[in-house]
Amino acid sequence: MPLPRLRELEERARPRLPEEVHRYFAQGAGAGLSAAEAEGSWSGHRLVPRVLRDVTHVDLSTSLLGTDVSTPVGIAPTTLQRAAHPDGEVATARAAAAEGALLVLSSNAGSTFEDVAATGVDWWLQLYVTSDRTRTTDVVQRAVDAGARAVVLTADTPVVARKEQGERSVWEVTDPSWVRRNFTEDGAEKARDLGPQDVAWLAGRFGVPVVVKGVLHPADARRAVDAGARAVWVSNHGGRQLDRAVAVAEVLAEIAAEVGGAGSEGEGAEVYADGGIRSGLDALVARGLGADAVFLGRPVLWGLAADGYDGVRHVLGAVTEDLREGLTLAGAAGWTAVTGDLLRTTTTTAAGPAPPAGTTL
Ligand code: FNR
Repeated sequence: MPLPRLRELEERARPRLPEEVHRYFAQGAGAGLSAAEAEGSWSGHRLVPRVLRDVTHVDLSTSLLGTDVSTPVGIAPTTLQRAAHPDGEVATARAAAAEGALLVLSSNAGSTFEDVAATGVDWWLQLYVTSDRTRTTDVVQRAVDAGARAVVLTADTPVVARKEQGERSVWEVTDPSWVRRNFTEDGAEKARDLGPQDVAWLAGRFGVPVVVKGVLHPADARRAVDAGARAVWVSNHGGRQLDRAVAVAEVLAEIAAEVGGAGSEGEGAEVYADGGIRSGLDALVARGLGADAVFLGRPVLWGLAADGYDGVRHVLGAVTEDLREGLTLAGAAGWTAVTGDLLRTTTTTAAGPAPPAGTTL
């Protein structure tokens, strides 16, 4: 079967989803400017391929905070996966396991930690800290007991941003058990007073590394790492929080230079990126800008809705193989072999032309 473009996958997913669910997955916050900008932002950079290099074997494996993966393309945390497919997060987890990809499970997931863990996937827990910290303790402890190997603290959501088309309608067409399956009590407010002390507390309490997700300013990356985070995840939440938040491609290099990441000196912290990654070349650009891994949000939901387990495998496999071809043609024998001189950033900017529709996979 020829690879359908990821954009076509969304078209395939669409008739299989209630209109409200499709809109919930696709939409951004506010007027949707950051959401719309994300995909094009990676094509503002140009690559400088190297030649006379042996690319007989191109190795995509790497290690993320001690978790070995076969591909640096991972699955970002997203809610409501059971609205995309009855098997929800479990199908996603099985697909990630089959591809050797890392799964980051939303703390609002509609499947239990134990069911996800039973697939054998390597997974991390994404966490929203609640104003009442005791609830947080319980959820993290159960996730770690079930096998979560890191905690990803989402820091960009003191409140859930308003969406132009609203969010209420999605809850009218979805089953309440499809979210927050791992909480025993009703929802509490998200913490608005999240600070470095929470990072330090998480890092000291559960014996697993902490990642801070939703960082866009280098000084915040530094504060997170100084407080004990082992990685920062550069993200504007897929354009679903502060509309007009800067594109990740614009700030990634500065953050990687501040705290570590690919191609930087010394040990440093790891740096991840997401938002509009739709092809291996987008991932390659992110690598050139300093990412140790990239994550996919919506494409996984489209794959899951279109074809369940097979659809998610297809998405991960397609982006990974596209990345392999990109690395081969760029003269890099592997993901970790990419050097900082891959990109020519001096003459191009992230405000460059958007790719013609459909040029992703
Ligand atoms: C998200 N995202 C998200 N992030 C998070 O930390 N916890 C969550 O529960 C969710 N839920 C969620 C639901 C849906 C429907 C979407 C689309 C996104 C954000 C997600 O992890 C990621 O940052 C973006 O989706 C990445 O951008 P792309 O790949 O969707 O463009």
